[in-house]
Amino acid sequence: MTKIASLHAHASYDVGHAHPVLRAHRISKEYVNGTFTALDDVSFELKENQITAFVGPSGCGKTTMLRIIAGLEHPTRGRLEVSGKPVVGPGPDRGMIFQAYTSFPWLTVLENVEYGMKIIGIPAAERRERAMSFLKLVHLQKFVDSYPRSLSGGMKQRVALARTLAQNPNVLLMDEPFGALDAQVRWEMQELMIELIEREKKTVVAITHDIAEAIYLADRIIFFSRQPGRIKADINLDFKNGKRYPLKEELIKLPGYVDLEYRLFAMMREEIRDASSGE
Ligand SMILES: Nc1ncnc2c1ncn2[C@@H]1O[C@H](COP(=O)(O)OP(=O)(O)O)[C@@H](O)[C@H]1O
Ligand SMILES: [Mg+2]
Repeated sequence: MTKIASLHAHASYDVGHAHPVLRAHRISKEYVNGTFTALDDVSFELKENQITAFVGPSGCGKTTMLRIIAGLEHPTRGRLEVSGKPVVGPGPDRGMIFQAYTSFPWLTVLENVEYGMKIIGIPAAERRERAMSFLKLVHLQKFVDSYPRSLSGGMKQRVALARTLAQNPNVLLMDEPFGALDAQVRWEMQELMIELIEREKKTVVAITHDIAEAIYLADRIIFFSRQPGRIKADINLDFKNGKRYPLKEELIKLPGYVDLEYRLFAMMREEIRDASSGE
């Protein structure tokens, strides 16, 4: 976060071509005894190392879809597979980061990160070492013995990030992870995120309703429309030419950036208008 000046466009990342890491096939989710459809016939496949942003207006089913991927919720219809196996519940192959800070207040920063590994059965000796190395990666090495209450919002989210990455999930799921942070901290977290994903080679799904954040972080944007939640557009960010751009100012001057931003704003406008006209 302090080495912004040394950031530059990363070499092309390698999206796996063989089998999709995750496959959602015709997923529907109904609530209230089938009278409310939160998700309707949603299908997509995620490739290895791909960063996908779920974007769409409030209530379009983004969180529901992410919770289904996490195994915290079951679809009413449809199939979900991770690495070719049906998802039946939560598993260590999928790590989730929520908007709300989810540290245990009675554990130190280090203990919080170690605890995440303990519950998935990583041996004690390895836990300490991994916890320290991931806390260093998120620039919290000086705060290992602090308690979460003494940390700022950005630092708490970095603890959550270290804890989740230390568990080494294949798929990283994030529900508006930076939504509660102020603009500057959010920016720093986004840059850190890009660096970490690049390093750790994760398949990522991040929910955001911030269009600029989605374009910055993602290789692909899945835009949901609401009531019922459906995929309105599935967009590969081809204007990035298969690279990631940690420096926002480099990204926004690429040809194609403004067109994409315009298209996403227009889609969001359409959704909001439909909602307010009662459709
Ligand atoms: N447990 C639930 N029971 C009933 N309705 C729900 C439940 N969870 C979510 N919903 C509804 O499903 C819709 C999609 O919610 P959600 O996935 O949270 O949307 P988003 O994350 O895109 O804002 C919303 O209308 C929400 O009120
Ligand atoms: Mg949500």
